[in-house]
Amino acid sequence: METHPLVKKILFNQDQIDKRTNELAKEIESYYRDQKIKDNTVIIVGLLKGCVPFMANFIKYFNHECQTEYMVVSSYMGGTKTSGEPKINLDLNLSIKDKHVLIIEDIIDSGITLDYIKKYISFKGAKEVKIVTLLDKTEGRIAPIKSDWVGFEIKNEFVIGYGLDFDERLRNLPYVAVCDVEKLKTWKW
Ligand code: IMP
Ligand code: MG
Repeated sequence: METHPLVKKILFNQDQIDKRTNELAKEIESYYRDQKIKDNTVIIVGLLKGCVPFMANFIKYFNHECQTEYMVVSSYMGGTKTSGEPKINLDLNLSIKDKHVLIIEDIIDSGITLDYIKKYISFKGAKEVKIVTLLDKTEGRIAPIKSDWVGFEIKNEFVIGYGLDFDERLRNLPYVAVCDVEKLKTWKW
């Protein structure tokens, strides 16, 4: 397989991500089994668009009754800086009142988006809100938020692939990689 020219370094390949996702799914599934949830159903809320590859893989391994739902929340002012004002562009359609909600995210950086969404879902009456993220950039944290389950911790670098984008591109790379931001400055698509 050819590596994309904007890749500086591949951090996690498909096999590594797959293995870790399976481990997470088993761990989380066992957590919910122990909770003995009333109607046995977990509501999985994926944050679009970045969650797509991770969530698609995760739910195949997650052997527990669930309903899936999606939200679109924007927090990036088109680029690599957080605006600090998350905005809900697609809201929940399922009722989450008294439900156990599991949010699926691609990456947590400042934590501002998730902090906002977690509060929002709690406000809507969820019984419990848990978070699983594929990647966690702990150094970038501004909001006081911690993911309940983390695939991989990474350094404060701009990463692409496996759902993560630059300007809506590169989400389709089958690995997580550090982006060559120098090359990006003069890059012609
Ligand atoms: P936060 O509110 O700063 O935690 O931003 C989280 C969102 O920013 C994620 O859901 C991603 O969409 C985006 N993001 C953060 N870091 C990166 C990155 O390194 N590459 C691509 N998108 C990122
Ligand atoms: Mg995202």
